Amino acid sequence: MVPYKSICVTPASPHIGAEISNINLTKPLSQPEVADLHKALEEHLVIFFRDQEITPTMLKVLGEHFGQLHEHVGKRSAALPMAGDPIVRILHFDEKSEQIAGGEVWHTDQSCAQIPPMGSILYLHTVPPNGGGDTMFASMYAAYDALSDRMKSYLQGLTAIHDGTPAFGPGEDVISRHPLIVRNPLTGRKSIFFTPSFIRKIDAVPADESAAIISFLSNHCAHPDFQCRFRWRQHSIAFWDNRYSHHRALWDYYPNVRSGFRIQIQGTVAPLAA
Ligand code: SIN
Repeated sequence: MVPYKSICVTPASPHIGAEISNINLTKPLSQPEVADLHKALEEHLVIFFRDQEITPTMLKVLGEHFGQLHEHVGKRSAALPMAGDPIVRILHFDEKSEQIAGGEVWHTDQSCAQIPPMGSILYLHTVPPNGGGDTMFASMYAAYDALSDRMKSYLQGLTAIHDGTPAFGPGEDVISRHPLIVRNPLTGRKSIFFTPSFIRKIDAVPADESAAIISFLSNHCAHPDFQCRFRWRQHSIAFWDNRYSHHRALWDYYPNVRSGFRIQIQGTVAPLAA
């Protein structure tokens, strides 16, 4: 494995997550730093940073090192666009919040889009005073690898419609059909592409069989063996590869405040059948 040239990378678990240090994201990044961040994201699926007091503009500059920035598909998301900038979404929850929308269940961001975002970068400037509000991440590569060979064969080639309408309201890019088992076009590695809150039914199988498979995959993908859990501090950042991971935000801090903003990076291809 090629060592990192410019950053320190401390894995958070065997399958997913790493904390990155020896980098200042509020300053222009060097080419070796950008290359190392790409490598760390590919290897660990989600990378964490501490003590980065970053502005929305700086966060966008970071995201642009990974691709064009993505505009959220939804009109009704709990993450509101920052005034005058539809690319930056405010994630703010406090004593007036009634829910934190889709964030409370395991999901891939906007898997209902024809080409879902490649990645999401979330910064929190305010965290609850007594902890809480952790984000959990799960590797869908590890979840795929842990399936039995018989289940891998069964799932191969199946597709499902991801319907984001209940979460986001009607829109141009909120309903799409995707394969259940996908592959990373660069590495060939297989992964499960499955957001239970968006999938109503698996195509081409009877309804009761689809329900049983959705239930099985919901439990399987949420197994703790595939996870890491990020405990936020003020001025932390989490940057996840949205294509091959799941995440779930905990809302155990009500009525305290958890607040920050998020950008997303466009995907370049629709999820590829394995
Ligand atoms: C999200 O689901 O994109 C937000 C995750 C979080 O608030 O930790």
